[in-house]
Amino acid sequence: MQEPAETILTTAGRDLVVRPVVAADEPALFAAWAEAVERGEFPRRPPAREEAFRRAWLEDKTCVLVALDGDSVAGSYFIRPAYEDRGSDIANAGYLVPRAHRRRGVGRALLEHSLDEARRRGFRAMLFLRVGASNPSVGLYDQAGFERVGRIPGGLGDEDSLIFWRAL
Ligand SMILES: CC(C)(COP(=O)(O)OP(=O)(O)OC[C@H]1O[C@@H](n2cnc3c(N)ncnc32)[C@H](O)[C@@H]1OP(=O)(O)O)[C@@H](O)C(=O)NCCC(=O)NCCS
Repeated sequence: MQEPAETILTTAGRDLVVRPVVAADEPALFAAWAEAVERGEFPRRPPAREEAFRRAWLEDKTCVLVALDGDSVAGSYFIRPAYEDRGSDIANAGYLVPRAHRRRGVGRALLEHSLDEARRRGFRAMLFLRVGASNPSVGLYDQAGFERVGRIPGGLGDEDSLIFWRAL
């Protein structure tokens, strides 16, 4: 599959360059992912190990993109099929913004970029299967026109999880 071209997104007055991940991005991405895991922001128990990071964020993905603010990794997302075989034209994605870059619209810009990217790659819908009911991304998905198609009581053990779906 042809790699996406670099794109420039503007958010909160900043220009972000979005491009495919390269090996040099990985230490900064792992640090941000590990912090999010340690703080309970992903549906995953600590400790945050590098091998688990590679499986969760880098391996077997349709694409992994990073957003750069100057030289700094300001965010990342991946896209993969939500299901194998039938239903593999439904995308799933993950988003990560390092704490120093949050609340400036980077997450929203990445979500919008990922919807275009998924569409461009032939997916017809986007699905999030296990979103903590108190996760900050809930507001992001609501605002982007996702439907809450399900709620799993105790889906994260100590918290309910939500299922979000949107046609592309
Ligand atoms: C979720 C995440 C990507 C949001 O990134 P961000 O750059 O801070 O988000 P934005 O500034 O674009 O905010 C967009 C919307 O998200 C919601 N939001 C973001 N942070 C929030 C917070 N701390 N509390 C409540 N809502 C929040 C709001 O609805 C916000 O819209 P508003 O600014 O109009 O209120 C970031 O918090 C993150 O990386 N979290 C850890 C990993 C994670 O949970 N990823 C999502 C599931 S894979």
